[in-house]
Amino acid sequence: MASRPTDLSLYVGLMSGTSLDGTDGVVFDAASLAVIGHVHAPFPAALREELLALNTPGPNELHRAALAANAVARSYADVVAQLLEATGRRRDEIAAIGAHGQTVRHQPGGFEGYTSQLLNGALLAEQSGIDVVCDLRSRDVAAGGQGAPLVPAFHRAVFSTEGQDAAVLNLGGISNLSLLFADGRTGGFDCGPANCLMDGWIARHQGRAYDADGAWAATGRVSPALLATLLAEPFFALAPPKSTGRDLFHLGWLQTRLVPGLAPQDVQATLLELSARCVADALHTHMPGARQVIACGGGALNGRLMQRLSDLLPGVAVQSSAARGLPVDQVEAAAFAWLAQCFKEKRPGNLPAVTGAAGLRRLGCLYPA
Ligand SMILES: Nc1ncnc2c1ncn2[C@@H]1O[C@H](COP(=O)(O)OP(=O)(O)OP(=O)(O)O)[C@@H](O)[C@H]1O
Ligand SMILES: [Mg+2]
Repeated sequence: MASRPTDLSLYVGLMSGTSLDGTDGVVFDAASLAVIGHVHAPFPAALREELLALNTPGPNELHRAALAANAVARSYADVVAQLLEATGRRRDEIAAIGAHGQTVRHQPGGFEGYTSQLLNGALLAEQSGIDVVCDLRSRDVAAGGQGAPLVPAFHRAVFSTEGQDAAVLNLGGISNLSLLFADGRTGGFDCGPANCLMDGWIARHQGRAYDADGAWAATGRVSPALLATLLAEPFFALAPPKSTGRDLFHLGWLQTRLVPGLAPQDVQATLLELSARCVADALHTHMPGARQVIACGGGALNGRLMQRLSDLLPGVAVQSSAARGLPVDQVEAAAFAWLAQCFKEKRPGNLPAVTGAAGLRRLGCLYPA
């Protein structure tokens, strides 16, 4: 095999988040901190369904999880091929792939803590012919951390805060904040549901994957009673470090808290308000001096959600990451490319102040090409 150049600066990042909307892939130039190519590929419907099912205990899970991990690898390999095609790059020009995998359980903390992202890294290395760095969360969990969020260090690296307290807000299935304090400290934590409950509710009642621009929510009225019940979830009041996922926030969680007499669109309006409130409340508590919020993730395309965030955060400029040079659907994937670079360069990827890990750790495991 030809020896690979050692000074490559191009990395592929692959992210498929809790929304289960599929994979965002980028080619990221670590030298310029710029994305030079982006591909989004939905999961095949049957795979999406199975991944969703695997979030809940069920029969024959080991076998089903192994098959799903193979399918995720094949789907990722397809995205890599599309990225190479779109950017005109060869695989030997890519230093490594940073691949997230699909979270099906996230239960960090304590002696029995673990987090599980389905992905057959060996198969992805085999199919792509590129070094694969994956399982990026487990080492932080092993060190007593949450294993999440892992993106704050990357947000610190790519977004300038212009001497102000600024936050980066990712609105995926779950929302997470990165707190970039003007004095150089970096914080971060998961806030709560961003899209996962809204997606689930509209799928159940309207058969649509998501509420484009919050248009359906806009036809309903927020229920103060339901909102108060939802906000009483202890997770919201927990002090960081904290992270969450579908383990907690799923339609069953909502179902047991519904108040009688609400139209489906009123529930949707309330879920959108919950998504905005849990972020705004967390920001008020943990970064009261915030002057800017840079929003990314698919939820940043929800105009109504962005408007409610602005309303709840007077004096804070809420803007899309696109205005700062990174389109909303590329930020998290770029973060995983950056984490692969950290691994390759033998640098830690976690921030113990964010995750609660016992110390800095080199994250991920390598499947060589
Ligand atoms: N135009 C839009 N209007 C409203 N919501 C949108 C729009 N476009 C995307 N979304 C929402 O964004 C979601 C996808 O966002 P994203 O890919 O950032 O989440 P994710 O896959 O959970 O990622 P992560 O876990 O990395 O945060 C969709 O499921 C949908 O709910
Ligand atoms: Mg996604």
